[in-house]
Order: sequence, then structure tokens, then C-alpha cells
Amino acid sequence: MLWRSVCAPYSLQLTAHCRVAHRATRKGLLRRGRSSIKDRSLTVMAAAATSDATKNQKIAIVTGANKGIGYEIARQLAQAGLRTVLTARNEELGREATKKVAEATAGSDAVQFMQLDIASPRSVDDFGRWAEQELPNVDILINNAGIAYKGNVFGAEEARTTMATNFAGTRAVCERLERLIPEGGRIVNVCSLAGKQSILRSPELRSRFENASSAEEVATLSEDFLQGLSSGSYGKEGWPGSMYGVSKLCEATYSRVLAEQLKPRGVAVYACCPGYVATDMSSFKGHKTPEQGADTPVWLALHAPSSGSGKFYSDRKEEPF
Ligand SMILES: NC(=O)c1ccc[n+]([C@@H]2O[C@H](COP(=O)([O-])OP(=O)(O)OC[C@H]3O[C@@H](n4cnc5c(N)ncnc54)[C@H](OP(=O)(O)O)[C@@H]3O)[C@@H](O)[C@H]2O)c1
Repeated sequence: MLWRSVCAPYSLQLTAHCRVAHRATRKGLLRRGRSSIKDRSLTVMAAAATSDATKNQKIAIVTGANKGIGYEIARQLAQAGLRTVLTARNEELGREATKKVAEATAGSDAVQFMQLDIASPRSVDDFGRWAEQELPNVDILINNAGIAYKGNVFGAEEARTTMATNFAGTRAVCERLERLIPEGGRIVNVCSLAGKQSILRSPELRSRFENASSAEEVATLSEDFLQGLSSGSYGKEGWPGSMYGVSKLCEATYSRVLAEQLKPRGVAVYACCPGYVATDMSSFKGHKTPEQGADTPVWLALHAPSSGSGKFYSDRKEEPF
């Protein structure tokens, strides 16, 4: 079902005025014959859309926000007063996290949940359709969702899954939502210093990454890596033995390309590394807390100079990559 990703919103400060406005909006929607499932997804949004207090409130979307750094990013954005759409591929975990953020940020206006699996084209499209219909715009998009296999797992299939999430999934979300981002809006892609150009062993490959000027060129590079892995020739071709590193390099290169593309519209795009953070991904070994890991992505979303668009950041500082 198209609306299987039913929203589970948690409004923290729904005023009586909002509730009345919501009921009125809801009746209007029903009269226009929209589905009741979709109508349920409007619980907070309809109220928020009609409330003066929330009219000028910035809207942020965070992917992979049910745990780790993404959860912290969502919490900090909600705490900063943004209307925050917390997304996760697992609906139950996403709802639980949303409830936790709502409880932890009693001063913020609204946080709500929407299901989004960035590696599923259908999920990305459903989410995009929902956002188009229910959000006036998207001021901030934080692409945090990512995967890394643990231990010595290395293979063509695992590399394809890693790439489908970290690079292709992030690209799909950007391409689906980019039209909703107004002038002054920002996209922050949570990449990694493990995906710097220096991991490439061939100057030719480095120069291909350096000079890539379209998302398609980055996709071709990603496919070349996957083909090299399948045929076993990746090493001779200069690729490193890191599926995660190459996927994050593709993601960061795509961020630079996208920044150039969105420049005329006044939308900034940043890539960043959160540092080594104690989350599930690092088997909780990182030396930073998730709160510290969320610092640079949140700073980029709210405070970084827009002149830094297209650049890579770590610890709030520009980092050559
Ligand atoms: N931790 C570090 O030291 C470190 C260092 C550098 C960069 N990073 C980057 O920081 C970001 C956050 O990582 P983390 O440390 O917080 O890891 P984490 O605790 O493993 O969280 C990753 C999040 O991404 C979600 N996710 C994975 N695949 C997804 C998909 N297809 N669609 C939607 N969500 C998906 C996960 O959902 P599930 O719970 O359903 O799996 C989870 O919510 C990642 O992009 C990672 O590469 C982390």
C-alpha cells in the first residue's frame, strides 16, 4: 500500500487552537475524498500548517535517525526548535525513537516519524510524495543513514549493498527531495574520513574522482568498483579493499557535485565526518559520544557559512578530502 509508511507524529505543544484548526482541516480533507490512512498522517502537520506559531518554523528531515548519530541529530534539531521529521527504515524503532526525542525535548514544537528506507526506491518515492503533499518545504535535509559491515566481511554482494545504501540511497533521497528545498536551504551528507581520495591507489582513479562533475559520473565510478570486485581485478585497477571507504568517497564526491548543481538556487550542500563515535556501527568503540558526533552535522545544518558549500568538514573545520 502506498501509504504503508504511515506517520506516527508526536506533537509536544499542540495548542487548543491547533486542535480546532486540525479538526477543521481534517474535515476539509475528508470532504475532498482523501484516504483515511493518509488523513491520519496529518495529525500534527495539519495543525502545524494552520498555526501562526509554526508557520515560520524551519523543517528538517533526518535519515537513519532511530539510533546513534542520527537520533542525536534529530534530538538536537528538535531541541533547537525545528519541526523535525525523524525517519527510519524500521517503523517500530523509528516510532520509539520519535517518542524519546519528544520526551527529551519538551520545549520544542513538533517531532514526527515517517518510515524511509533509503535503499528502497519505492520507499524513497513514497516518502517524497508524502513530503510534497504535507510539508510546505524542506529547509534542512540530513542524510545520516549508512551501513558498514563488521569484521572482515568483504565481497561483491556486500559491496553492492553498501554502495546501494551509502551512495545510491543518499543520492536517491537528495534527488527526490531537492525540489522541496528553498533558497537558503541546506543538505548535510554524513560521510567519513575513511572515504578520502587518498585511499585510492591509482592516480588515474584519483583524477577521475577529482574531476567528476555529474552524479552519473560518480555512479559510473561506483559501478567500476563493484565490477572490479566481481571480477577480482579491483586491486590491479587501484581500488582499495574497503567497501565502506569507497562508498563514502562516492557519497562525498556526489555531495561536491550536487553543491555545484544547486548553487544557482542558493541551496548549500556539505559533506562531513562525525568522527569516531561510540555507536552500533563502531561496536560502541568510538571515543566520541553520539552527542559529540552530531555536533558537526548540526552545526553545518544551522550555522556554517554557506560559502562552505561543496566542502568536507570534520570537527567544524574544512578538511581536504
Ligand atoms: N560511528 C562512527 O564512528 C562513524 C564514523 C564516520 C562516519 N559515520 C557515519 O555516520 C552515520 C551514522 O552512523 P552511526 O555511527 O550512528 O551508525 P548506526 O548506529 O549503525 O546508525 C546507522 C543508522 O542508519 C540506518 N540505516 C542503515 N541503512 C538504512 C537504510 N537503508 N535506510 C534507512 N536507514 C538506514 C540504521 O537503521 P537500522 O537501525 O535499521 O539499521 C541506523 O538508524 C553513517 O552514515 C556512518 O557511515 C559513523
